[in-house]
Amino acid sequence: MRKRIVAGNWKMNTSQSEGIELVKSVIEKSIAVPKAIELVIIPPFTHLNEIVKYAKGTSLNVGAQNCAEWSKGAYTGEVSASMIKSVGATYVIIGHSERREYFKEDNRLLFRKIKEALSNDLIPIYCCGEKLDERESGKYFDVVEQQISESLFELSHEQMQKIVIAYEPVWAIGTGKNATSQQAQDMHAFIRATIAKKFSKEIADNVSILYGGSCKPSNAEEIFARPDVDGGLIGGASLVADDFIAIAQSF
Ligand code: PGA
Repeated sequence: MRKRIVAGNWKMNTSQSEGIELVKSVIEKSIAVPKAIELVIIPPFTHLNEIVKYAKGTSLNVGAQNCAEWSKGAYTGEVSASMIKSVGATYVIIGHSERREYFKEDNRLLFRKIKEALSNDLIPIYCCGEKLDERESGKYFDVVEQQISESLFELSHEQMQKIVIAYEPVWAIGTGKNATSQQAQDMHAFIRATIAKKFSKEIADNVSILYGGSCKPSNAEEIFARPDVDGGLIGGASLVADDFIAIAQSF
């Protein structure tokens, strides 16, 4: 059975003390979330160490928003997967559309980051998704297929079993305009079929595919009800503990 995951990507928000208040509130409210739903908090790097301490002994998992493609060395400003692992985080987002757009990260670079994450025992949450013009011109399946094939197809079967995928149409991120549950389902089924064709049906059936993009308490239930949607990667709404927990309760 594939895991159901609700992950909160805080992006570049909160001071450390605000982050601690937020995580304390999420932990307190998380008793209302069924144990079968995995909750992940993804704060800025600077807060990871502290937040892991608060999350210890709770059902909460902690992840980072990015990692370097290299393991160590003279790369000023970068944070390696082993550093993230060393503070006790277990997940890492790879290839968020904001990284692709503002930091020019491409599919091949992301492949190297995924391998770094895997060799340090972190679970990559690999993000894919088309931009508005690619949606409107009807190219969205091709775009996502290329993102999947160029970043994931050289992984071994064993490595692929550790990947979580997040489908995040760029036009839905932070815009308040979510994909319809049908659009999400169609793309998630397509991604799963793409994984099945390259790897195996069993691997595809077990890969968790999260939806991201203006997911909120008012639309999560309908989106999560779709058979190929295994949870969400939540941006804005993850900064409000009540909203994040309400989304996780939407299954
Ligand atoms: P959003 O962001 O929920 O604010 O649209 C989602 C994401 O970027 O992961």
